[in-house]
Amino acid sequence: MPGPADAPAAPTTAPGAPHEEHLRDAPYLLVARGDVARGLRPARTPVWFMRQAGRSLPEYRAVREGTTMLESCRRPELVAEITLQPVRRYGVDAAIFYSDIVVPLEAAGVGVEIVPGTGPVIAEPVRTRADLDRVPELAPEQLQHVTDAVRLTVEQLRATGTPLIGFAGAPFTLASYLVEGGPSRDLLRTKALMHADPQLWHDLAARLARIAGAFLRAQVLAGASAVQLFDSWVGSLSLADYERHVAPHSAAALSAVADLGVPRTHFGTGTGELLGAMAAVDGGVDVLGVDFRVPLDVGAARGRAGAGRPVAVQGNLDPALLSAPWDVLRGEVHRVLAAGERAGAGHVFNLGHGVPPSADPGVLARVVDEVHAWRGAGDRADDRAGDGAE
Ligand code: CP3
Repeated sequence: MPGPADAPAAPTTAPGAPHEEHLRDAPYLLVARGDVARGLRPARTPVWFMRQAGRSLPEYRAVREGTTMLESCRRPELVAEITLQPVRRYGVDAAIFYSDIVVPLEAAGVGVEIVPGTGPVIAEPVRTRADLDRVPELAPEQLQHVTDAVRLTVEQLRATGTPLIGFAGAPFTLASYLVEGGPSRDLLRTKALMHADPQLWHDLAARLARIAGAFLRAQVLAGASAVQLFDSWVGSLSLADYERHVAPHSAAALSAVADLGVPRTHFGTGTGELLGAMAAVDGGVDVLGVDFRVPLDVGAARGRAGAGRPVAVQGNLDPALLSAPWDVLRGEVHRVLAAGERAGAGHVFNLGHGVPPSADPGVLARVVDEVHAWRGAGDRADDRAGDGAE
């Protein structure tokens, strides 16, 4: 199984190190560390949103004016400002580092652009052995701008008591962009490559695992308190293909931070059949991201069966509901909270996927307040009967 490129550098920070003291009781970290499974209750259910920083915020559109997405990721002051915008506006319980899954590819020297309204577009797609030979390894010093940006962001977050989540794209999702050349609905070329030339697939995924692992490790060493691995498009695979061609590489990416003691979340969409295997990678993750297709308590049961121990869950309000009338949306928020409570080992409230650019920030603010006001389904007979039976 592939491992990180080099022997891991000695950690410069350790779990529970003094810089983390002010985050000791942060609700997000309490849940993500598995403390709920050990009988501890956070003061409130923590909430953050995937893509909380971005186009739904007028203050984001204002500071991004005249700068491309990838340029903005190279400017630490801008990265820190954009990462903090949703923390200031919503009082969410975690910040997610403003960057993109293709940033470490670009840092390594891969030609990539993020085209507005489309997504990452790769200058020279990777489909042959010769193409793979052109994909460089990533040296930690190529991530200096990332390290600088994380340090500045963590410094500015300090006063808010909010932890920073670092992230990376998982090898499969990164490979899907490299092989297809850009976003794709059906990932035909990626899946064909996996089966037609398993050795080339393996070597590509192993290289991407080292790149993703280096990106995660750089963020944690610079002060991120947790990580999330995004395997957004992995739901297009069968369980057999996932276990054989993908899980070992996702495990390798996450293993790059295993010695640093930070909680690790694993997320994808359309992953109902894969949740057990996703929970099990690298000896078991701490938090399992569940999209809106599977009730949280069902997802938690699948995660527990896969990992062989209780796993906290994160999710899973359908982002489409953000445009529903408030009464309808509020009912759904309660349904998700009740299912998260039934899951039993801790719940981080989130959407089932990212915030759509059209989302109304006022509505997201109300969702955060509603989650923070929640005191358990015991108070609310109407929320007790719901989904969850399997
Ligand atoms: O709040 C956050 O989550 C901020 C950080 C973040 C971004 N991208 C910023 C971004 C994170 C965690 C990502 C991860 C990412 N990028 C994923 C995994 C998460 C997911 O949504 O499943 C994926 C698949 C990508 C690739 C990517 N980058 C896409 C599909 C897009 C959207 C393209 C479009 O314009 O519709 C991007 C661009 C991107 N990444 C934007 C932001 C804020 C929008 C760019 C802009 O504002 O010009």
